[in-house]
Amino acid sequence: MRLFLTALLASAASSVMATRYCDPATSVCYDQMVVASYGVAYRVAIPDVAAAPFDILLQIAAPQSVGWAGVAWGGRMTLNPLTVGWANNDKTVASSRWAPPGTTPCPAPTRARRTPASRASEANSTHWTLTALCRGCSQWTATSQRGTNTESLDPAATAPADLAYALSVTLPAEPANNASRISYHSARGALALDMAVAKTSKFDEYVQLLS
Ligand SMILES: *[C@@H]1O[C@H](CO)[C@@H](O)[C@H](O)[C@H]1NC(C)=O
Ligand SMILES: *[C@@H]1O[C@H](CO)[C@@H](O)[C@H](O)[C@H]1NC(C)=O
Repeated sequence: MRLFLTALLASAASSVMATRYCDPATSVCYDQMVVASYGVAYRVAIPDVAAAPFDILLQIAAPQSVGWAGVAWGGRMTLNPLTVGWANNDKTVASSRWAPPGTTPCPAPTRARRTPASRASEANSTHWTLTALCRGCSQWTATSQRGTNTESLDPAATAPADLAYALSVTLPAEPANNASRISYHSARGALALDMAVAKTSKFDEYVQLLS
């Protein structure tokens, strides 16, 4: 039994699988992906649409031992929108970032902007939970030496979308500042986002509720 559990946890660490989760505080339902080794839950809801671009509701729930946690919408560190969250006293901070190749994550240009959904963003002595509306996270244009490339998430995909997470046990240098420098990650890995589970016809209602 123990070996079986260890094997399960090991496979979960390489690509985190999703399940449906409904927030008891708001009744908002998400596709949840848990990084078990750090106790961090990534939750995503998307509108019932056939194609990008679309807005994304993101919730990150973490213990206070986690200094920051982020998601990369294109599944890698560079050239895709990154949404990073952390606790600041009894509030949480959402930060939109974009990492060109060869640099540490920096404040994002407008393509990865977001609006906080503040009602459900909070932190206490043991945990923090960020809820944010990500605009510009489902479709983006990346320019590199290889040229200009537009990429998007496919809400109609039946295979899971490959997102990535990164997290650190170190708090950002200036927690009150959404453009704060953040430390190198302590852990990173893949998140398998199930679009069918994330998709909800109540998306607009959820956004209203959380605004
Ligand atoms: C920080 O917040 C401001 C105001 O909401 C926003 O305009 C800016 O894009 C945010 N910066 C980052 C890095 O998220
Ligand atoms: C802090 O918030 C989390 C998540 O909402 C909750 O599970 C936990 O019981 C809270 N802790 C305290 C000390 O209130």
